[in-house]
Formats: sequence, structure tokens, C-alpha cells
Amino acid sequence: MSKYEKSNELLKKAIEIIPVAAQTYSKSFRYFIKGESPLFIERGDGAMVWDIDGNQFLDFVCALGPITIGYNNVEINQAIIQQLEKGIVFSQPSPIEYQLARKLTQIIPGVEMVRFMKNGSDVTTAAIRLARAYTGRDMIAVCGYHGMHDWYIGATPNSLGVPKVVSDLTQEFIYNDIKSLENLLKVQEKSFAAIILEPIQFDGPSGDFLKMVRDLAREHGAILIFDEVVSGFRYALGGAIELYGVIPDLVAMGKGVANGMPLSILAGKKDILELIETKKVFISTTFGGECLSIAAALKTIEILEKPESYKHIWNLGRKLLDGLQKLIDLYDLNQVIKVYGLAPHGGVQFSDFGEISYLESQSIYQKCLIENGILTIGINNISLSHTSEDIDCFLKGAEVAMEEIKKYHQGKISRLKDENMINPIFKRNSRGDRK
Ligand SMILES: Cc1ncc(COP(=O)(O)O)c(C=O)c1O
Repeated sequence: MSKYEKSNELLKKAIEIIPVAAQTYSKSFRYFIKGESPLFIERGDGAMVWDIDGNQFLDFVCALGPITIGYNNVEINQAIIQQLEKGIVFSQPSPIEYQLARKLTQIIPGVEMVRFMKNGSDVTTAAIRLARAYTGRDMIAVCGYHGMHDWYIGATPNSLGVPKVVSDLTQEFIYNDIKSLENLLKVQEKSFAAIILEPIQFDGPSGDFLKMVRDLAREHGAILIFDEVVSGFRYALGGAIELYGVIPDLVAMGKGVANGMPLSILAGKKDILELIETKKVFISTTFGGECLSIAAALKTIEILEKPESYKHIWNLGRKLLDGLQKLIDLYDLNQVIKVYGLAPHGGVQFSDFGEISYLESQSIYQKCLIENGILTIGINNISLSHTSEDIDCFLKGAEVAMEEIKKYHQGKISRLKDENMINPIFKRNSRGDRK
């Protein structure tokens, strides 16, 4: 009997009534190896999760970013329960909306006004609408992944369903390549409303890249938006803004702010955000003021504010990335596997090598780690609940994986069939972008 019997059975039923049997592509069965991986998680505690077959894993995915403190955290649970007893959502704003907004203006440099929404896509889209209203222009320069809405996804290979007139308004520039942005802005002078980018991608900004983007935005009269949906609260409370000291006009955050409760943040300069009132730029949702998530965010921030919190996360992340690099060197796999990312959000990326595709190497890596009780999809998120021993466990599994990948590349193991490999919906583009 398979270790994943219940997962496999549920998948058969779920796929009939839920597209990809998941709400998020990258959580779906296509990102895991059939029959060799858990597919449905029942519960979590600290850094650990249990699948529906009762198998236990150290989770380094952290729900794709929201889990910053750990699963089932007593203090955050208490904060949610206390609020639950008062009410979830009301007919007028709750005072904790002000409390959290005020806290955010204190911890995110340059932030003067704040609005709450639910998903990262909500707040990146709201920021774009504000930028267009503020500048009276339509074009958008993008760099990174910015969510599911038309203005962004229309300009990617996944544009089906988006009108071309919308897609044509969005143009991409290349991370850490300031010339690519300069050229873009020059071609259609004074037509860009916004430059939106994920300020931390790959190994982070090189040199003065972010400052140069800031200067170019000013020079061209475009609004600079940092998409910190991933980086906010993961690297530091104030995300890349705090780490690199470059202040955008608007910032979008989400994922890690409330340790798994659904909350996203649109924040930035007052003269832009106040257009929501003065010019009626329409940004309004039923659940933006939902209080359980806001209570969870206040407690999450309180925990992350302790001086040892980010130190712990960065130290563990460094240990993991250094350990992975040592293994890659040991097994002489530098041409196949690259360590990338900054400590709290880093991992390995695979390259095609000879006849062997990156998906084959990545599939072996993931399978070996899962066999060793580690849930990972390549990029890892370190939470406050992970321990140094957890990193040792990860590296033990990674060593098995590297040995196996080496043998595979030496032709000592037969080639994987497609059905025994991961099959991501978004294949990597030529620059190795992760979405
Ligand atoms: C950088 C970035 N921006 C925006 C989004 C969209 O967030 P959501 O999926 O919560 O709408 C994501 C999601 O992965 C993201 O990584």
C-alpha cells in the first residue's frame, strides 16, 4: 500500500470538481511527484505539517510565504480567538484597523497612509490604478511576478482571456539591468504611469540598482511601486525598503504579514493614497477590514519586532544556503544546481545540462527530500519555528539528493519518465524567472 494512499484517492475525486485540485497552481499535484509525495495537508504545528495519510514533514514551503512565525502559534491563536469573541467583521470600521495602520506607518520607512485588502494581487492592482489616476498615463513597466489580474498577467505567456488592448499597456524590464528600464522609458517618453518591481529577486539588487530605478522613476514622472508581497515581513518588517533604504511612492505587501491569515497591504505616500477619497479612485472591498486577520497581523508584528526574531531567521537561512553550496561543491554539481536567494527566502535552482532537463534534476531533488521528511519546492521560506536541527535534517536529505542527482548525470540510474516528474504549469523562462 502506498504511503500516500489517501492523498492519491482524494486527488482523483478533487480533480473532478476543483481545477488543478488546488486554489494555487504551485500548491497543486503538478508540483509534486505522483505517488511519491503528499498532496493534501491536514494540519501543521511549528515548522511541521502532517498530510492526510498521517505522514509528517518539516515544511520549508511555509504555504508559499505566509507562514513567518510557524503553524498553530499559541500567541497568534489567542489573538485571533480574542477578536473572534468580539466579532469578525462589522458594519463600521473597527479600531484595530487604525491600530495596525498606525503600526505600519511606524515600521515601514516612508509610509504615510495604509489600506488593507486580502490578496497580493488586490494591492498590486490597486497601486497600479492609483498610479494611473495620479499621472493620467496608462503604460506600466513591470519586473517580477505581480499577481493574477489583467494588467499584469496579460503581458506574460499566460495571457489567455485578457484583451490585447490591456496587455499592450504593460512592458517588462530586466532585474538588475538598469539599461533595460532606461530603454523602455525612452521609447514611449512620458507615457509610463508606474514602474512596479519586486525589489528583491534572485540574489538581491546589485550595487545601486534600486536607487537608480528610483531616480529614473522621478526623472520620467512615473510612480515607483515596490511589490513586496514576498519580501515584506520575510527579510525584515519593512521589507526591502528597510534593507536597502530606497523609498518607493507606493508599496504592496501581503503573504507574511499575518502568519497565514489573509491580509494584504497597500501603503505609501499620502498625496497618492488620498486620491481614494478626494478623486474617488475606486478601491473598496467588503473584507479589507476583517478583524481576525488584522488581530493576527498585530500579534505577528509584535513577535517579529523582537530583536532576536529576524536574527534567528537570517542565521538559519544562511546555514541552509551555505550547507547546500558545500554539498553542490562536494558532488561537483555547480553546472546543474545553483544556490540562489537571500537567507530567509533562498534555495536551489536547476539548469538543463547536456540532454538532461532541469525538471529531471529538480524532480530527483524533491523526491529525495520528501523521502527524508522535508517538504520543499526548491525555494525555501524560513520561519521563526525552524531550528538549527531542522536545517541539519534538510541538509541530510539534500546530501542523499545530490548523490542521486550525480549518479543520474553519470548515467548510473535510468532516465525518469514524464509521469515520474514534476510538471509545473509555469515553465521557467530563459532568464530562470521563478514564476
Ligand atoms: C511578488 C508577488 N506579488 C504578487 C503576488 C500575488 O499575490 P496573491 O497570490 O496573494 O494574489 C505574488 C504571489 O505569489 C507575488 O509573489
